[in-house]
Amino acid sequence: MMRSVLFRYLLPIAVAVGLMAFVGVPYVDHVLGGWFQTDVRMRARLAMTSVGEPLAALMDPRDPARAQAYLERVASDERLLGFVVCRPDGATILRTRQVPASVACPDGSALEPHSESLPPPRADRLAVSGFDLTTASGQNYRVLVVHDLGYIDRRQATARNFMLAFALIAAGALALVFAFGIRMLLQKWIRLLVGDISSRRFLDDAHSSDPSMPVLMEVRQALRDMEKSQRLEIEFLENWSPQALQQVVREQLEACPMMVVSNREPYIHNLDSSGMPVVQVPASGMVTAIEPIMRACSGTWIAHGSGSADRLVVDHRDHVRVPPDDPSYDLRRVWLSSEEEEGYYYGFSNEGLWPLCHLAYVRPAFREEDWKHYVAVNKRFADVVASEADGSEPVVLIQDFHFALLPKLIRDRGVKATIALFWHIPWPNAETFGVCPWKREILLHMLSADILGFHTRYHCQNFLATVDRLIECQIDQEHMTITHQGHVCRVKPYPISIEWPPRWLANTPPHQEARLSVRRRWGIGENVRIGVGVERWDFTKGILERFQAVETLFDKHPQWRGRLTFLQVAAPSRSKLPAYKALQDQTHSELERINSRFGTADWKPIVLIGEHQEPAQVFELYRAADFCLVNSLHDGMNLVAKEFVAARDDEDGVLVLSAFTGAARELVEALIVNPFDVSETANAIVAALDMDREERRKRMQLMRRTVSEANVYRWAGRLLLDVARIRQRQTLTHWTEDS
Ligand code: G6P
Repeated sequence: MMRSVLFRYLLPIAVAVGLMAFVGVPYVDHVLGGWFQTDVRMRARLAMTSVGEPLAALMDPRDPARAQAYLERVASDERLLGFVVCRPDGATILRTRQVPASVACPDGSALEPHSESLPPPRADRLAVSGFDLTTASGQNYRVLVVHDLGYIDRRQATARNFMLAFALIAAGALALVFAFGIRMLLQKWIRLLVGDISSRRFLDDAHSSDPSMPVLMEVRQALRDMEKSQRLEIEFLENWSPQALQQVVREQLEACPMMVVSNREPYIHNLDSSGMPVVQVPASGMVTAIEPIMRACSGTWIAHGSGSADRLVVDHRDHVRVPPDDPSYDLRRVWLSSEEEEGYYYGFSNEGLWPLCHLAYVRPAFREEDWKHYVAVNKRFADVVASEADGSEPVVLIQDFHFALLPKLIRDRGVKATIALFWHIPWPNAETFGVCPWKREILLHMLSADILGFHTRYHCQNFLATVDRLIECQIDQEHMTITHQGHVCRVKPYPISIEWPPRWLANTPPHQEARLSVRRRWGIGENVRIGVGVERWDFTKGILERFQAVETLFDKHPQWRGRLTFLQVAAPSRSKLPAYKALQDQTHSELERINSRFGTADWKPIVLIGEHQEPAQVFELYRAADFCLVNSLHDGMNLVAKEFVAARDDEDGVLVLSAFTGAARELVEALIVNPFDVSETANAIVAALDMDREERRKRMQLMRRTVSEANVYRWAGRLLLDVARIRQRQTLTHWTEDS
């Protein structure tokens, strides 16, 4: 549009002013020069004819004073510089005052005949013409009339200045008129824009050609282009995908090395019964979320090599390319001795920090030996990060409570990394965290990160309050930053999610088929409704409370006996630990008790699948279910809830969800329950079973929209955009320091 205004309006004015200045002014100059020359010529003639007679009478060679006085009077004209009276032999009789000495009398032979035209100007811008004078006494003289041509120059200069001033004033006036016109036009466009954009007519009409309004048409086109590109951008960023994430890494992080550090590895190689390595995807919310990110972004994932065949498949640098079916990133395995695993993983991480952070009323245990192993293993991983970084400036994404010390330990090793630590479990309140004997060490090490991420704002606030109570530092509550010893650590909620659509769906059978196959596999009758629960066998997941809720349901609503089976997947986890063993034992005894109370020869109230299920099998279960029950006692996010929603592309099935999960903040269309209140949970299950198809569809549609938009690529995208901003600021700081 600007080009058009330039070409259509401003350029013609500029050309007109240029023509006036470079053609018009010299032309007028030339014409004026001619006029002034004619004027001088006429004056010369006039001078000669009018001066001749009186001068002849006054001329007395012995006393030229009277003739001189007369000629001085005549020469008072601006254009006439003066006179010189010469004798025929070239002697000067008199010369008026203003005539310069350079004008000399010619000798007789050089006398020019009298001429009408003015002789060409001399170098001193004088023109000298002459005429012969004969006095009454018969003496002959030559009278030189000296004209000042500088007068012509002065007049021409004055005329030129006038012309230029006129040109400028005219251009200014034109510009004013033009500006006024533009203003009127703009007002008209604005009225059109404001009036028509809201009714969409303006842009819809953008193709209409109105030759009387070419600029308006261009404005319309520019607006349409702008709107289109904005729409694309918004679509791109709102529909976060692997491609959008790759773009963030490429453009915002300039494809710098990416590292993920976690305890649990995304692929475990175990030896099967025949001694062959087989790959297993572990049951871990953290793995579910991070794995698609690494597929999209590539890089190195550093994790504990815990599988029995893990060492068999790595190269000399302990690397293996994964995923096995489509290798796209490096898995760097770190080996731990059984003592280290005992102290760092089972001990401090899972008997200390895990129960400390989850309000499941299992008492945390803190042992000095475990702490030492925790410190040592964190140091080992920091060494591995330093060696993998190998002088580069990577982005290091640390996962979870196993590596609270890592941010500082990585910095201590001089790695110039941008570090984000994401805490996948809840952060308790300050009093609760305060019971940990190494609380200050943990917090101080965490604060070396650039970003500390939690699932919810509530966990962020708990963390800030904990730091406030235990560490001397500056806390900006509004921006959620903590400055400690000059380092700024940002605390921010990033609600984690799952990939959308989950890749496991690709090979899962359609819903009816899935239902049939699940019924067949687990001996569930045709008219029996199916509820599912999918968990690690963990005391935070509320498995016992769930069984009790099912029992309460059959007690309070006996009509459902024989018509509902609850299928519980409980993947054994941390089974060495007494709390987990006790839970497994209790689960079995509760299962037996309830099943023997209500079960019949051909119907079981609860089916327990107490072994690891691969994701494809889990997705089949989700698709077969009438409802999914997620009643964790406390959970950072809980991705089972989101996976169930993702699996239901038939827009059916009901989610019953614990209020104490991070997911409950997003999936508000689920039936939200207090998992400690088994009656409430039982009622919610009945409500789920009784819910009509339309309500199920509506709720599922809304939840599917939420999860599809807030998918894990958005989680990672937002985190990485923040990381990128910090890196850009760090670059600026380095520049300032260097300069
Ligand atoms: C939670 C943690 C993860 C962990 C997962 C499985 O989701 O946040 O970091 O991987 O539990 O636990 P495990 O001890 O088997 O890795």
